[in-house]
Amino acid sequence: MNSPVVIAIDGTSASGKSTNSKLIAKALEFIYVDTGAMYRTLAWYCGQKRIDIHSEKEVSALCRKWKTTLDCVNGQVRLLVDDYYPEKEIRTAETSAAVPHVAAVPYVRDWMKKKQRECTRFGNLVMEGRDIGSNVFPETDFKFYLDACIKERSARREAEGVNENLAARDQRDSQRAAAPLMVPLGATVINNSGMTAAETSKLIIAHIVKRLHR
Ligand code: DC
Repeated sequence: MNSPVVIAIDGTSASGKSTNSKLIAKALEFIYVDTGAMYRTLAWYCGQKRIDIHSEKEVSALCRKWKTTLDCVNGQVRLLVDDYYPEKEIRTAETSAAVPHVAAVPYVRDWMKKKQRECTRFGNLVMEGRDIGSNVFPETDFKFYLDACIKERSARREAEGVNENLAARDQRDSQRAAAPLMVPLGATVINNSGMTAAETSKLIIAHIVKRLHR
């Protein structure tokens, strides 16, 4: 049997990774994996357990004994904590502020990489994140890096009702020592400023289909 195909979609915050990844997964009938949601789940869980997110030692210790399950519902992978999916809780401003700290912990990154690679058991994947093409699936032939100008990305977040300092978050994600945000080697870079999600996903799908039939 052929090994599952993994489409890696990396990029800056609000560059359209989620919208496009979902559109691509739907069009190709692949499974969608939001790895940011996995980091958010741990950040939320740290809050539940009153862990100091600035302490690498405490976060690592919590992650080490964390009991989770991977589940696939309606074509999307979910990370469950004690059989619970904290869908709303991981999108709060509090979790958004905590997540870059948790995501910078080397033990957490190794743990996440292992979990994310396990997702291939569900089938072909469209996986979005910051280090998918560079670190989680560096062997994949399908790597895309999305970006857009900061003005447009901020406007997109505001339209979602979120007021966030995206430049600061990107800077933290790019400057951390462990698996920083970067353009993966061999990635197709797409700056989608002024483009709709339909246009961006169409462009990406065309690249994928061409490569799949090469
Ligand atoms: O995509 P998002 O905003 O839900 O991601 C939440 C945070 O997790 C963000 O600060 C970047 C981090 N992240 C990461 O470091 N690596 C990933 N593969 C996915 C997200």
